[in-house]
Amino acid sequence: MSKEFLEAIKKRRSIYAISKESVLSDEQLERLIGEAVLHTPSAFNSQSARVVVLLKEQHDKLWDLTTETLRQVVPAENFGPTEEKMRSFRNGYGTVLYFEDQTVIEGLQEKFALYKDNFPVWSEQSSGMLQLVVWTALEAEGYGATLQHYNPLIDDAVRKEWNLPSTWKLIAQMPFGKPTAEPGEKQFQPLEERMKVFK
Ligand SMILES: Cc1cc2nc3c(=O)[nH]c(=O)nc-3n(C[C@H](O)[C@H](O)[C@H](O)COP(=O)(O)O)c2cc1C
Repeated sequence: MSKEFLEAIKKRRSIYAISKESVLSDEQLERLIGEAVLHTPSAFNSQSARVVVLLKEQHDKLWDLTTETLRQVVPAENFGPTEEKMRSFRNGYGTVLYFEDQTVIEGLQEKFALYKDNFPVWSEQSSGMLQLVVWTALEAEGYGATLQHYNPLIDDAVRKEWNLPSTWKLIAQMPFGKPTAEPGEKQFQPLEERMKVFK
């Protein structure tokens, strides 16, 4: 079991070349992401993570909206590569949007004043854990995914389009789809420079 787990962790890569070809049913996808949301840990079991799963046309809408938002801020003469990148994400089947509910964090800060400064940090850490769980789970099922950060530029447009609570803070976007190309080679720093063991 632990070998399978580590293999899945190793196999997870940033896959930018993705298509709309289906891998799982929408119900299976929903269950997979739901399990990750339920079982990823959070500080004080606060469960501050919120996710929005956008599939098919809803996914397309996100990347159209992101393209138009970026068009407002990227100089026209440099927009080509940005538009190309947006198209590559739009080529996928779906996107997972990761949020953290700020009411949960503020509630904890009031209740446990001693840890006040830690709760926003722990919230981001917990979101990162969830992102890794979903990313790895998607790739284990045959999808390719990447982690993107067009927040805070797109926050208002996203909140308006999907009618989301203003207290949900957008943390990351994870477009995914069936891979159409292998990821590039990855460089690793020597492990002995990064890990010490004392025994
Ligand atoms: C916290 C965090 C933020 C990242 N942000 C981005 C991002 O905004 N855009 C992107 O394309 N990749 C992003 N990445 C992906 C990394 O660049 C990538 O994971 C790293 O280069 C290792 O490659 P691999 O994912 O193929 O193993 C992010 C990864 C992490 C962990």
